[in-house]
Amino acid sequence: MDEHEPVLVDETVAALAVEAGGYYVDATFGRGGHTARILSALGGAGRVLALDQDVEAIEAGRTRFRGELRLTLVHAPFSQLRALVPAHAQGQPCRGVLFDLGVSSPQLDQPARGFSFRSDGPLDMRMDTTRGEPVAAWLARAGVDEIREVIATLGEERFARRVAQAIEAARRERPIARTGELAAIVARAVRTREPGKHPATRTFQALRMHINDELGELERGLAAAVDVLAPGGRLAVISFHSIEDRAVKQFMKRAATLDPELASLPVVPATAAPRLRLVGKKQRASAAERERNPRSRSALLRVAERLP
Ligand SMILES: C[S@@+](CC[C@H](N)C(=O)[O-])C[C@H]1O[C@@H](n2cnc3c(N)ncnc32)[C@H](O)[C@@H]1O
Repeated sequence: MDEHEPVLVDETVAALAVEAGGYYVDATFGRGGHTARILSALGGAGRVLALDQDVEAIEAGRTRFRGELRLTLVHAPFSQLRALVPAHAQGQPCRGVLFDLGVSSPQLDQPARGFSFRSDGPLDMRMDTTRGEPVAAWLARAGVDEIREVIATLGEERFARRVAQAIEAARRERPIARTGELAAIVARAVRTREPGKHPATRTFQALRMHINDELGELERGLAAAVDVLAPGGRLAVISFHSIEDRAVKQFMKRAATLDPELASLPVVPATAAPRLRLVGKKQRASAAERERNPRSRSALLRVAERLP
């Protein structure tokens, strides 16, 4: 129940080019699978700052890594990296930042967290339960067009209008408070079934991304990571679906390209210069890993290096 099998671990440690005395950031600690491997590649002088916006992840980490003095665990969203890294780095250059996006298995598996359409629980889906509003509260107050827009864009759901109308009709009867209720409402509205997928998969993904502002966090987190990385430092990002991967790919491409508006100037200003160099091609899990860990089947790793 409290386990999370990390994906692409060897590939990630290689991508970060972990050096024994280096300072690294795991922006999405989860249950610490990647952090553990980075720590084991470090010597006594190496250090890791690990963040998670889920209090339960940080508490589990404090237990798992009790006595590990090279690790600092902080409950914070990764959009705060720009302030947190200088405060913790003690002058050490940051050699790598890892993002392993999305939710962890313990979050999905605990019905009480409200992420799952498979087991009934309160309709919450917040990663950080200390702030923000649960999905149930948002669904009670949002306009039907707003709901349709979120489900269409963040879930890429063809039947977004029907789903939004079904939610509107159901909430007129009584508030939608449970994941099971929402899953049943969506299942009645979405006619065609994609093979192997629950009809509510896309709606749940969209609502989760919206309530946690996942794309906003990602954009701010990546920008902050580029700012805190030392020249030669590595940025490694694992994503799990096409919307996330597109955002990562476009961010890296932009940061690796000379600003076209300024490129034609006789003297190109330093601020227009590319800040990243793309490293290798996107990577997927090996056949053996995909067989062993179904979560890894959709995982994509992209890597870039900070330029001076
Ligand atoms: C896929 S899991 C990471 C698993 C981890 N690599 C491991 O090996 O156990 C993603 C984690 O990132 C956290 N997370 C997602 N978005 C975040 C954000 N914006 N800031 C901080 N943590 C975030 C989630 O709470 C979750 O615990």
